[in-house]
Amino acid sequence: MSKIISGFSKLTKQEKIDWLTENYFSSQPEIIKTLKQYWNANEKLQQLHDDFIENTISNFYLPYGIAPNFVINDKDYVIPMVVEESSVVAAASKVAKYWSSRGGFKAEVISTTKIGQVHFMFSGDENELKSHFEGQKENLYKATASITKNMEKRGGGILDIELKNKTNKLENYFQLHVTFETKDSMGANFINSCLEAIAKEFRNDDIEIVMSILSNYVPNCIVKASVSCKIEELGGKNPQEFAEKFYQAVRIAEVESFRAVTHNKGIMNGIDAVVLATGNDFRAIEAGAHAFASKSGSYSSLTHCTIDNGVFNFWIEIPLALGTVGGLTALHPMAKLSLEMMQKPSAKELMQIIATAGLAQNFAALQALTTSGIQQGHMKMHLMNILNQLEATADEKEQMISYFKDKTVTHSGVVEKFNELKK
Ligand code: MEV
Repeated sequence: MSKIISGFSKLTKQEKIDWLTENYFSSQPEIIKTLKQYWNANEKLQQLHDDFIENTISNFYLPYGIAPNFVINDKDYVIPMVVEESSVVAAASKVAKYWSSRGGFKAEVISTTKIGQVHFMFSGDENELKSHFEGQKENLYKATASITKNMEKRGGGILDIELKNKTNKLENYFQLHVTFETKDSMGANFINSCLEAIAKEFRNDDIEIVMSILSNYVPNCIVKASVSCKIEELGGKNPQEFAEKFYQAVRIAEVESFRAVTHNKGIMNGIDAVVLATGNDFRAIEAGAHAFASKSGSYSSLTHCTIDNGVFNFWIEIPLALGTVGGLTALHPMAKLSLEMMQKPSAKELMQIIATAGLAQNFAALQALTTSGIQQGHMKMHLMNILNQLEATADEKEQMISYFKDKTVTHSGVVEKFNELKK
């Protein structure tokens, strides 16, 4: 029997759950209990979350952790992180503490502009198009006046509108390429509204508008975060060897795309976690970061390292289009709390904090990879996941953690020891 349904969105939440159970879980009615145990008892709060998207039937929890001891531009921060992967928060905290006694992190915003485009088709005389554009340019700005008014008061708005000929890539394809400054807002709605108003004003019988949309590629919305110290200050048994191996690990990610993807994935472990905690759009950040990592034509590392005259330098440059006002940032109580925790940063400050979280995460990964290997730390954290799966009591967990303190954690090893303990 077909499961295609019309008017699903109009059903109540309970009716949606009933439909789901009848059609996909007929032999597992207990899923209703699972779904409902994640409902918030505070109905107003639940309604808020229900309304973020369509067809909400429950909530999906992710852990919300905090990484203390970050020093960025001489200011102390505790950074909130939403992430499911064990060891990400632990690694961030460890690296934050490590660099706090070596001058901390330095961060600077290099640029803040964003791009939106009106994509259109035109098959006539290009000179006529150019004069139509020049003649209309002022009107294009005027057409957005009611939208840009508030943004201009905050120092933002439309910085430039260019006509671009893209016919070498696709027949009859042209663009209006628009540059925006959106200050403390991520600006997606603002940009898209402006673009639609511009397109409406610009079109004529010869111009076929295909679409108007912001670009999540923001190579002019860049932040740099860095750490630096004398090699001997790196500590450990052999700091010179550590620095050189670390440098090679970064160089490998710069030249080898298979490694670069994993290297950057580790960076995004830190970045996405803070982006999520602040209610920002992690898909936009991911798409933009990876496009930037490919800007040379081959996918490469987002971080870089040098060793100059005995000084170790390690840094990241990454595009981050973020908001600290608008969107979910004020609406989601936890996103709001995250921003308060970081002392209500401006979007520029948040760019610096988040780039730092990415750099710290990469430092932790490379430090582990080039010394003890990644599995030692990972499996220690994973031990807790396995113990939870086995429904270990607090007392059993304590005994198991103590047993595996100096042993390699493997899934089968944990299960075996746990069963032994149970006897
Ligand atoms: C795992 O989530 C991230 C790492 O693989 C990153 C890296 O290899 O650099 C450890």
